[in-house]
Amino acid sequence: MKEINNIESRTEDAKEYFDATGLIPEHVAIIMDGNGRWAKKRQLKRSAGHKAGMDQVKTIAKHASKRGVKVLTLYAFSTENWKRPLNEVNYLMQLPVDFFSSFMPEIMEADIKVMMIGHPSDLPKKTRKVMEKAIEETKDNNGMVLNFAVNYGGRKEILDAVKEIAIMVEKGALKADKINEKVFEEHLMTSSLSEQQNVDLMIRTSGEERLSNFLLWQNAYSEFHFSSLLWPDFGEVDFDEALRIYQKRNRRFGGL
Ligand code: IPE
Ligand code: IPE
Ligand code: MG
Repeated sequence: MKEINNIESRTEDAKEYFDATGLIPEHVAIIMDGNGRWAKKRQLKRSAGHKAGMDQVKTIAKHASKRGVKVLTLYAFSTENWKRPLNEVNYLMQLPVDFFSSFMPEIMEADIKVMMIGHPSDLPKKTRKVMEKAIEETKDNNGMVLNFAVNYGGRKEILDAVKEIAIMVEKGALKADKINEKVFEEHLMTSSLSEQQNVDLMIRTSGEERLSNFLLWQNAYSEFHFSSLLWPDFGEVDFDEALRIYQKRNRRFGGL
């Protein structure tokens, strides 16, 4: 694994180059990775890393909202994470309960709207209920969308869209030659994000450089930023650094 960044120098870097008046990515997606390694470094249980990671979600959500990001999608639990030991899965399923019970006042204060992508039906009832409650309570908020990917998998999302479309064709409700990108996107879990459906900036922490089944369609033209910091160490200044790097990128979308 790569060496962890020096915290002092990265603070200076971000201050020096970040342009608050520059272009801010509308949709930022984060693969919040490295909670387990963060805990291991401190000889703590993996759950302590997840708890620290949850606290960092609060910091980054408020900060992204302050920076004018319109949608922040956070990968909280993948369709593959069920492979983990049961006690870890149970802990992760409890986290949304703790998160919303402590963070809801600040969510309302920041006018943040909570949304979710993934498959709620396989979640424990308490997890599902607390997510549904947060979505309901914030549905009229007009600020940043805080979109949690919980029990989310990009391949499953695409296959489900294909199935829905196939059924429409079978029923005669849609002609096969009318299937295009726009029609397809209407069947993805991100469809309600409309213009912000596709990701502008995709961040992954912990030094791993892979997608791990995250937003496969929506990341087609996003800018990638890989940070070697572990998620509980990824702070406001590191988010600003990612924005600064994004601002220097030249997005061509296949053109010149
Ligand atoms: C990311 O941290 C959080 C989830 C996947 C839920 P990890 O738990 O994957 O941490 P590492 O990769 O083992 O360090
Ligand atoms: C991706 O991290 C999933 C989340 C951050 C929720 P993982 O730690 O599960 O990914 P892999 O296994 O290293 O690819
Ligand atoms: Mg991991």
